[in-house]
Amino acid sequence: MRVYNITIDGPCGSGKTTIAKAVAEKLNITYLDTGAMYRSIAYYCKEHNIDVNSETDVKGVLKDIDLHVEQIDGIQHMIVNGEDITGSIRTQEISMLASTVSKIPAVRLRLVDMQREIARNICCVVDGRDIGSYVLPEAEYKFYLTADADERAKRRYLELKDKSNTTIEKVKAEMIARDEQDSKRAFAPLVVPKGAFVLDTTNLSFDEVLEMVLGKIKK
Ligand code: DC
Repeated sequence: MRVYNITIDGPCGSGKTTIAKAVAEKLNITYLDTGAMYRSIAYYCKEHNIDVNSETDVKGVLKDIDLHVEQIDGIQHMIVNGEDITGSIRTQEISMLASTVSKIPAVRLRLVDMQREIARNICCVVDGRDIGSYVLPEAEYKFYLTADADERAKRRYLELKDKSNTTIEKVKAEMIARDEQDSKRAFAPLVVPKGAFVLDTTNLSFDEVLEMVLGKIKK
């Protein structure tokens, strides 16, 4: 079968992960969550007291991080130095640390290489911030999902509220800070990729978004 790739980029809470997973399931192809890769580097730095704001310190430990992405029963697992850390990387703290560590070009280059290698060999839906613009600019199908900030904060809050003691105001403030950092970094920032189909999901249901995305792909 011919290998093809679908990219879905967008800010936090735009619905890209939920849609990317559903599209992959419908088409029976792999879903690659690139945010989990940045989160894994951030997690390692946190566990080893490495300052994610220090490019020198982070670059210095990259060689010590043996990172693997494994798909087990359709679920992506992140393995760092032999330990499955998948269950520990979805906190608000790790979200912000991942955004900060992702500004460092050496981190990006290492992860981008891994992402390209995976996408070269298998059909997959890849979601992130720079996938259609930088990682896989030649992908067959490219999407950019967005939604207004209040709606995105509400979605993130619903995801987090059972796991952490937070408020919607706090979630919104952190989300805006993270989006700003992800959009303003010098290397491969969050942008609308050239040729991407842009979808504002603010007033759309999950089913409507999925139908629109699959409709574009079938065409
Ligand atoms: O998608 P996510 O929330 O799991 O991503 C966490 C952080 O990782 C995000 O704030 C910025 C960074 N990231 C990135 O820079 N490039 C990607 N392709 C994916 C994530």
